[in-house]
Amino acid sequence: MAKTLVRLTVNGATHEVAVEPRDTLAQALRDGCGLTGTKVGCDLGTCGCCAVMLDGRAALACLTLALEAEGRAITTIEGLGGGTNLHPLQEAFATCGGSQCGYCTPGFIVTSAALLDHEPSPSRERIKDAISGNLCRCTGYIKIVDAIERAADRIRVAKTPADAPSRELQHN
Ligand code: FES
Ligand code: FES
Repeated sequence: MAKTLVRLTVNGATHEVAVEPRDTLAQALRDGCGLTGTKVGCDLGTCGCCAVMLDGRAALACLTLALEAEGRAITTIEGLGGGTNLHPLQEAFATCGGSQCGYCTPGFIVTSAALLDHEPSPSRERIKDAISGNLCRCTGYIKIVDAIERAADRIRVAKTPADAPSRELQHN
């Protein structure tokens, strides 16, 4: 089948990738861009391993055609942090034991990052709801939810100005 050149904006960088019309964004990211942090589990939209952000919202890269993603801001796990500069979610998953084999972890972290970008203080029930499309066969989920709560706390603290009045002062 003839290939088309598609320009994908991934983590702020432009990638030109030759794709067939039926190729998914997951294929284009992994095979065309070399960004293998996005995992493919079911390839059917049921496991959440392939979650990325499209224009700031979580989306399944196995259900998105590469051609559909042109002109949109794509964020993958590689765009959230790495090396010694971990995203608070990455730090929290490591600290809380929210990752074991790790195959599902990029999907959980990207999905959670999209949640916390829009809802900085989600309840535990809201977190469970937001990750309900992500499957893990190792952890039992409790530590994953713990990790997302920890990261939300850290992000909120980091965003609080140092000179903000404390709660006690506000009541005085
Ligand atoms: S690989 Fe996309 S949802 Fe499973
Ligand atoms: S850590 Fe192994 S599937 Fe989630």
